[in-house]
Amino acid sequence: MSKTLVMEGVSKTFATGTVALTGVELVVASGDFVSVVGPSGCGKSTLLRLAAGLERATDGRIEVEAESTSYVFQEPTLLEWRSALSNVELVGELRGLPKAERRQRAREAFDLVGLTGFEKQFPRQLSGGMRMRVSIARSLVAEPQLALFDEPFGALDEITRLRMQTELQRLFQLKSFAGLFITHSIPEAVYLSNRVLVMSGRPGRIVADFNVPWAYPRSPELRYEPEFTALTGAVSAALEGDHP
Ligand SMILES: Nc1ncnc2c1ncn2[C@@H]1O[C@H](COP(=O)(O)OP(=O)(O)O)[C@@H](O)[C@H]1O
Ligand SMILES: [Mg+2]
Repeated sequence: MSKTLVMEGVSKTFATGTVALTGVELVVASGDFVSVVGPSGCGKSTLLRLAAGLERATDGRIEVEAESTSYVFQEPTLLEWRSALSNVELVGELRGLPKAERRQRAREAFDLVGLTGFEKQFPRQLSGGMRMRVSIARSLVAEPQLALFDEPFGALDEITRLRMQTELQRLFQLKSFAGLFITHSIPEAVYLSNRVLVMSGRPGRIVADFNVPWAYPRSPELRYEPEFTALTGAVSAALEGDHP
């Protein structure tokens, strides 16, 4: 498997003197869906921003082997004055794609996330889950090889969240991007990923790396299997082990 994202000895100190990350080692191969869990403020968003090139590392090496990278934020960050579909179309507009092509690409991504029929709705008319679907559709328009997610389901109610996990897993299989996914939820990380990385408290570094053995697609019922619970328990112990 070729490597989509590599971080070697990556550190980040902000101008304020805050050391957000130190000695981060990370590899995301093509075909990987990697989740990162860690305590609040440990540098997870910073890690993702570095991967996206939105921020520069103070030290270390970052290599991205992807023609296109997408980024999904915790908040859907939609333009309220544009319809749902035209929010998705925005990416093509910014890239200067011809109208017919950007329409068609937006349409395809829109249908893929299950929004068919909601084209003309404005963001405020949509539920939290649907707004997040729009945001994910917008990220898919770029046909990402590397897809970055910063706690995208953190603000959703539990039922919507579980449904979105199954949806995202389906998209991951269908579109075969490499994924790097930040979350607070250990079951979410295990359910979605083939690897789960655990970060220490600030300054963050990777302190544990778990393989998740189950093939995709995974059924929602996997979450109730004893093997699943055993693995979430192990991840949880690694997370807590760092907080004496
Ligand atoms: N632009 C910035 N300038 C200064 N400090 C920052 C900046 N961005 C984040 N930080 C600090 O770096 C640490 C890690 O932040 P962040 O990556 O957002 O953590 P997480 O996403 O894990 O909650 C925090 O202490 C935060 O206050
Ligand atoms: Mg964050």
